[in-house]
Amino acid sequence: MLLAQLTDTHILDPERGDEQMVDNNHRLALAVEAINAEHPRPEVVLATGDLTNNGHPGEMEQLEQLLAPLEVPLLALPGNHDDQEAFRATFDMAWADDHLSWVADLGELMIVGLDTTVPGQHPGLLDATREQWLQEALTETAGRPTAIAMHHPPFLSGLDAMDASTLGRADAFAKVVSSYDNIQRILCGHLHRPVVTTVSGVTTSSCLSTVHHVGLNLNPGAKIELIRDPAGYQLHRVSNGNWITHTRYIDTGEVAVVPAWAR
Ligand SMILES: [Fe+2]
Ligand SMILES: [Fe+2]
Repeated sequence: MLLAQLTDTHILDPERGDEQMVDNNHRLALAVEAINAEHPRPEVVLATGDLTNNGHPGEMEQLEQLLAPLEVPLLALPGNHDDQEAFRATFDMAWADDHLSWVADLGELMIVGLDTTVPGQHPGLLDATREQWLQEALTETAGRPTAIAMHHPPFLSGLDAMDASTLGRADAFAKVVSSYDNIQRILCGHLHRPVVTTVSGVTTSSCLSTVHHVGLNLNPGAKIELIRDPAGYQLHRVSNGNWITHTRYIDTGEVAVVPAWAR
């Protein structure tokens, strides 16, 4: 199966005129167009949070309008920039009662969508309620290939400015993951950079953003720098437990060239 992952679209309300480095809304329109044109087409699009910039009603409205042409089902998780209630009202997911987590059964693959957000705060947290929910969700998927999706990465990236707002109680998360043998992949957002590591032996990645990126500065205490790296989304191809991740760039002006020797 093929799964597309979009993250950190940070949609803005054009009426508010908020400052932006790139045209966030146009970038999502391009991504939607590119996903619709994928061949083979992904079976679902997983959106791992920060879909709006401030959670304002006008931003949610824009987000809905920009996602309307998407011809692939969407699984949505909130990030620290989203508004929880607006998110719950906008997306039709099997939400947990106390938080915006869900479990999706895609047949070949189960996805456990874990809400890591704390209203009013940028850092994430696996609180006791969600830790228990995660254990129950993973028990429910036992014996079936499963991925966990979440906004805040459960690892330190070495980008200190971003690590200051990473997942709280990541050690508790890693412990839960280590108790199950059916978790094949952990998919995150938030970093605005493509990063890969392992957590309890499971390949764990953050997807590139469709908007600005965070400068790659691994010096201790480095301040955050926002840069215009190529943006896009990822395609995860899953076949018999084997995961291959490809990156699709958008808005790069790339033109395919066939070299003379290959014609
Ligand atoms: Fe973000
Ligand atoms: Fe975030």
